[in-house]
Amino acid sequence: MDTLSQILNKRIIIWGIGHNGRKFADMASRLNINIAYFVDSFSGVNSICINEDTYPVYQPEIILDESFESVFVIVTPSREEGIIDLLEKWGLTAHVQYSTLTDNIMPFVYGALFKQECTLDMLEKPELFKQVEIETVNRCNNDCSFCPGNKKLDKRKLKIMDENLFEAILNELRNMEYMGSIGLIGTGEPFLDADIVSRIKKVKEYLPNSMQFLSTNGTMLTLSIYKEIIPYLDSLAINNYTSAVQLTNNLQEISDYNNMNLDLKSKVTLQTINKNEIRTTRGGYAPNKEHEAPRVGCYMPFQFLSIKSDGKVSLCCCDYLPQYQMGDLKTQSISDIWYGDKFKKLREILITKGRPNLKLCCNCDTYFVLRD
Ligand SMILES: C[S@@+](CC[C@H](N)C(=O)[O-])C[C@H]1O[C@@H](n2cnc3c(N)ncnc32)[C@H](O)[C@@H]1O
Ligand code: SF4
Ligand code: SF4
Repeated sequence: MDTLSQILNKRIIIWGIGHNGRKFADMASRLNINIAYFVDSFSGVNSICINEDTYPVYQPEIILDESFESVFVIVTPSREEGIIDLLEKWGLTAHVQYSTLTDNIMPFVYGALFKQECTLDMLEKPELFKQVEIETVNRCNNDCSFCPGNKKLDKRKLKIMDENLFEAILNELRNMEYMGSIGLIGTGEPFLDADIVSRIKKVKEYLPNSMQFLSTNGTMLTLSIYKEIIPYLDSLAINNYTSAVQLTNNLQEISDYNNMNLDLKSKVTLQTINKNEIRTTRGGYAPNKEHEAPRVGCYMPFQFLSIKSDGKVSLCCCDYLPQYQMGDLKTQSISDIWYGDKFKKLREILITKGRPNLKLCCNCDTYFVLRD
């Protein structure tokens, strides 16, 4: 029996209340898959709410009270080896790691949801994007082996966004009364843009009701810059890409500062990530992973606007060159592009034929979806 048939007949236990666990629970619950509860050793919370349903969170040992024939455990933390070993030691073989899930269960769950929620009648009047990324610089100083922006491989010509264009984009979003998420990131490291601090401030000034996020590799982030930007951000991911266990000195300083300012805990994630990890294929551009696309659609062009440093709009965040140019903000408005024929045509293909029919998507195992 394959993993998918196994989970449909069982009570699902999700190990880990982080992003992966919640994302899976969100999709599964919309498809009436039976989620029993979460377990997490470190969470410190008793329950979590997903799509108006509340799920208990227990210590993992509760699984020992289950009848092993009737449960299936989805292990979602990215460093999961110890957990799998523990389950095996307990004698519970009905489990799957999130990485395996991505290849053999996620396409089914995601595909079914997409079919349910993205239909042809949406093409005439699509909803506005819920998230926008503005890449103010298209270069990185790092060489993560899973990333197309790896400085050793990146062939793009360096481009930093002109200030006039940057302000024109913010102005248009303000006129649209945009209230979704916005982040000054793309395929690169935002702090290689010398104006990034003032630009972060400008985003809040133009769009006070939006949700500003940022993601950085932290190599150029000092405590003083951190203190300057944090009031303007709603969410910040500091990703210390390393194979070392310890944080670098500058990030340790920031971590110590956070420990003394607990109000920052809810908006800052400071994590180490193995720079040799295998992640998604990112439209086939990830240097260390190949994948044939599942026959499903993709929410990204229905929810996400990706603006490159030269003002071009691409199909999605994976389309970093871009291969599909949906328009150019130096000569067109955001509305013209988002509601225009190019996006319409590609959305229609994703609905009617799925990923195999688009040359970028046919290599993509990204399962992106946003909720209100
Ligand atoms: C392109 S980076 C830009 C900001 C910054 N340099 C950083 O890494 O945080 C944006 C996000 O894409 C993620 N990313 C890069 N390659 C990926 C891949 N192959 N699969 C999944 N996520 C990936 C990074 O980990 C990061 O969270
Ligand atoms: S993930 Fe971020 S830090 Fe790593 S190479 Fe890509 S852009 Fe640079
Ligand atoms: S399938 Fe991948 S490449 Fe295609 S639109 Fe979605 S995220 Fe982008």
